[in-house]
Amino acid sequence: MLKSIVFILATLAAAIVAAPTIGLFERGDTDLIKRQQRIATQYWANDKADLDWVSGPAGAYSVNWTNPSGGNFVVGKGYFGQGMLFNYTGTFSTTGNAYLGLYGWTTDPLVEYYVIENFGDKHNPTDNSNHTCYGTFNTDGGTYEVWMKWRVNAPSIIGTATFPQFWSVRTKRHVGGTINTTAHFAAWARAGLKLGKHRDGMVIGIEGQTGQGAAAITAGVRPTTTVKETTTLVHHSERPRATNTCTRKL
Ligand SMILES: *[C@@H]1O[C@H](CO)[C@@H](O)[C@H](O)[C@H]1NC(C)=O
Ligand SMILES: *[C@@H]1O[C@H](CO)[C@@H](O)[C@H](O)[C@H]1NC(C)=O
Ligand SMILES: *[C@@H]1O[C@H](CO)[C@@H](O)[C@H](O)[C@H]1NC(C)=O
Ligand SMILES: *[C@@H]1O[C@H](CO)[C@@H](O)[C@H](O)[C@H]1NC(C)=O
Repeated sequence: MLKSIVFILATLAAAIVAAPTIGLFERGDTDLIKRQQRIATQYWANDKADLDWVSGPAGAYSVNWTNPSGGNFVVGKGYFGQGMLFNYTGTFSTTGNAYLGLYGWTTDPLVEYYVIENFGDKHNPTDNSNHTCYGTFNTDGGTYEVWMKWRVNAPSIIGTATFPQFWSVRTKRHVGGTINTTAHFAAWARAGLKLGKHRDGMVIGIEGQTGQGAAAITAGVRPTTTVKETTTLVHHSERPRATNTCTRKL
């Protein structure tokens, strides 16, 4: 989970970046698409993380990692708008615990949200001791499970706070395509999960925890060939009975 990450504006970064669990969310200058959005760039790594990250032109980036136990980073690129069809393409592979997903925050109420497109075989992000599944919905050729989890006295974009995380988790993992952000936000609302005001944009990001992996992702570009799907790991070790309980259609 992107649990220890805080997005902040670059202008505030110098003041806050010294704290150990603070992320960095910079405003870029380059137009990624010919509308109002500008590139959002996310880079955060804790002191145990061992990664090689290169931010390419426009929405492109690549990253390799070999994290020891306790290593953790989040990198990504995206937009400052919302309500869009978020396109991306690229590659992602890991033999450890890592996620590929859309990521962002709202305030009033404070919410940290994720649309998980892929993750490693070590850990399904829904496997947690205090998660609730609200059901499934379909969008963009896939089915997503909707989950909520409380974060108690955890770091956030407004400082330490207690707030929910909203999760869409694709039931068949893939890398690349379109994420209809409106469809996810609407499904969460139907589940009673209310977002607030969007803050600091959203990125298609990689979180790498313990283990190795590599990714090369471009935000703003759709794949030109058919995207392969792989079966999503459903095993839950922390809540074994929570497996396959997302039966409601949202
Ligand atoms: C990742 O690994 C590949 C293969 O070794 C290398 O070509 C590339 O430069 C590395 N770095 C990044 C940021 O992708
Ligand atoms: C994503 O791709 C679709 C289909 O080409 C396009 O309609 C949409 O505008 C794209 N989204 C963005 C934010 O560029
Ligand atoms: C989950 O977290 C919420 C918020 O802190 C708390 O009220 C609830 O009791 C927790 N449930 C479990 C099963 O831990
Ligand atoms: C995106 O989702 C919204 C809300 O569900 C829907 O009205 C719209 O048609 C969807 N757009 C596409 C291109 O699927």
